Amino acid sequence: MTSDAGAVPTQRLDDNLKRFAGSADQPVLEVDEVAKVYSGEPPVSALRGVSFSIARGELVGIVGPSGSGKTTLLHLMGTLDRPSSGHVRVTGLEVGRLSDRELSALRATHIGFVFQQFFLSEHQSVLDNVADGLLYAGVPQVKRRARAIDALTMVGLEGRPHARPNQLSGGQRQRVAVARALVGDPAIVLADEPTGNLDQATGQSILGLFKDLHELGVTIVVITHDRDIAARMDRRIEMLDGQMVFDSADNLATVTAAASRAPTSGNDHRS
Ligand SMILES: Nc1ncnc2c1ncn2[C@@H]1O[C@H](COP(=O)(O)OP(=O)(O)OP(=O)(O)O)[C@@H](O)[C@H]1O
Ligand SMILES: [Mg+2]
Repeated sequence: MTSDAGAVPTQRLDDNLKRFAGSADQPVLEVDEVAKVYSGEPPVSALRGVSFSIARGELVGIVGPSGSGKTTLLHLMGTLDRPSSGHVRVTGLEVGRLSDRELSALRATHIGFVFQQFFLSEHQSVLDNVADGLLYAGVPQVKRRARAIDALTMVGLEGRPHARPNQLSGGQRQRVAVARALVGDPAIVLADEPTGNLDQATGQSILGLFKDLHELGVTIVVITHDRDIAARMDRRIEMLDGQMVFDSADNLATVTAAASRAPTSGNDHRS
């Protein structure tokens, strides 16, 4: 899979995005009154009126029990699916206004995905797995490999570029998947249960990696049903029955506003 056939035209999208370049205040991602109904008998209302926005450089955990709508939300945030109503904007671009081809280009150039199952190609080297993250971004092969080495360095795997995924541990495989997500220098990385197939210690090390990447300025959303993992994120959003029931960013804003109104200070209500 090293041909450039199928590369999507990104120029128009790039032109569009240039309008937003340099605007540090522009949220990387906005979810605005989003609902998702899966058709069927009966239809499933998977998301109901969900709104939040994510700023550049944030590390956000989205937590909730099974069936609460986390993966559905990730698919909408990642433009893999469209909402039934409401709006999703990625770096200011209204997803609902883009064609399928433009959405492919947007994903290829602006969004990195990490999944529980890694989704690595077993018959390719680690290097080519990561380089393939640039296949649809219109980057020539030589540059793809150079940037893949950079991404592998970011996840601490620069010493094993020619290994096959089946020669690596689970934690190392997930690091390769993270490198593949990072290689296009995306505006946002979306991870769905990235530690779900890993033991506790290895999962913690992947979380440590996300924290390190966050320190480097990468914007990351981690979806998990594990509250301990979510608790380690700077910001926590909780889902229940398709609704957002808590956002620690709102909570902090509320607490801060309450504190500024209070006649005396000294009580810190943050948990
Ligand atoms: N393609 C689909 N068609 C119909 N219903 C779906 C589809 N995908 C998800 N659902 C339903 O939407 C709801 C939310 O599912 P979703 O996968 O988003 O939950 P989740 O929070 O990711 O759960 P888990 O922690 O088990 O992964 C569930 O009731 C699920 O059965
Ligand atoms: Mg899920």
